[in-house]
Amino acid sequence: MKIPFLDLARSYQTHATDIDARMRDVAASGAYVLGKNVERFEAAVADYLGTRFAVACNSGTDALKLGLAALGLRQGDEVITTAFTFAATVEAIQYVGAQAVLVDIDADTCNIDVGKVEAAITPKTRGLIPVHLFGLPAAMPELMAIANKHDLFIVEDCAQSFGAAIDGRAVGTFGNAGAFSFYPTKNLGCLGDGGMVTTDDVDVDRRLRELRNHGIGAAGEHVALGYNSRLDELQAAVLDVKLAHVDAMNERRRHIAERYNQSLSSAGARTPAVPANTRHSWGYYTIFVDDRDALRVGLADAGIATALYYSKSLHQHKHFSRTCRWASLDVATDLAAHCLSLPIFPEMRDDEVDYVASTTAALLS
Ligand SMILES: Cc1ncc(COP(=O)(O)O)c(C=O)c1O
Repeated sequence: MKIPFLDLARSYQTHATDIDARMRDVAASGAYVLGKNVERFEAAVADYLGTRFAVACNSGTDALKLGLAALGLRQGDEVITTAFTFAATVEAIQYVGAQAVLVDIDADTCNIDVGKVEAAITPKTRGLIPVHLFGLPAAMPELMAIANKHDLFIVEDCAQSFGAAIDGRAVGTFGNAGAFSFYPTKNLGCLGDGGMVTTDDVDVDRRLRELRNHGIGAAGEHVALGYNSRLDELQAAVLDVKLAHVDAMNERRRHIAERYNQSLSSAGARTPAVPANTRHSWGYYTIFVDDRDALRVGLADAGIATALYYSKSLHQHKHFSRTCRWASLDVATDLAAHCLSLPIFPEMRDDEVDYVASTTAALLS
């Protein structure tokens, strides 16, 4: 059997009839950027997540960048984030001229270690970016308490976690802003690039709308130095179709994760921890094993594609090693050497899931 890490064409086929119809409507409409489909999708996401405002833009990276800019982050400010994340989290901090300070992760959740955040705060610290890594919510109540105590803003990086929640409250509704990615591989993905910023703050919402469209204010005047970060109508229409299925897709991911957990925890892998009050959205299913490279080769020989999220902590990359600050990143460094992500996508068939679970368990035994 050949199991891809992801099969995006299979995902498209599942919704093809509705997607094709909506795309044809857009093509015939003559309105292609920031139109009624974007407005409709923004309203649908705000409603789904339970946030006042949702502002579409053209990627998750831009969602982070726009969120930081709308909150007034400036050159010389410091922002604390996790070392175990995709580069975009830190790139966004650097695009607005701020200093990124990396904090180590909790070994069980792989999210930022809340106990190490306060030691990284200096008089220049303005904000925190927790990342809900792999779809598991970061410890938001504890992080909010730290942010309130030190008067810091929070931008949540929700790129991997659409639909995840703590005590029923969706990620992206805790901080001053939430940044989502609709890159095709994400839980809610389009057929290209796309992103969204959520906020409850009316002024942040206004600035986001200005910044994403060349700094143009409500009266049509350029009121700020903005960006070209608009979402296309085609992508908004596709996302609107898929949003109706996101709960079912996340539920299927959860089912696959549970099947993997059953087989792999008894075979000696460290399977993902899920705190009792959290809803994991299973963007990735990542295990930690002693000899990751051998397991990866064994799975490839058996026709199973895997991926490394992440093969290095950010501070181990040339650019970030020169530009970020950190104290100790021992846990992130260690986990990067032992992580392996297995295929998990809603359209995987049960026989494919069973094959991955049993082959991985056999190779570990
Ligand atoms: C944690 C994290 N943050 C930010 C991003 C950036 O999203 P995009 O690729 O849509 O710019 C990604 C996506 O790869 C991500 O995984």
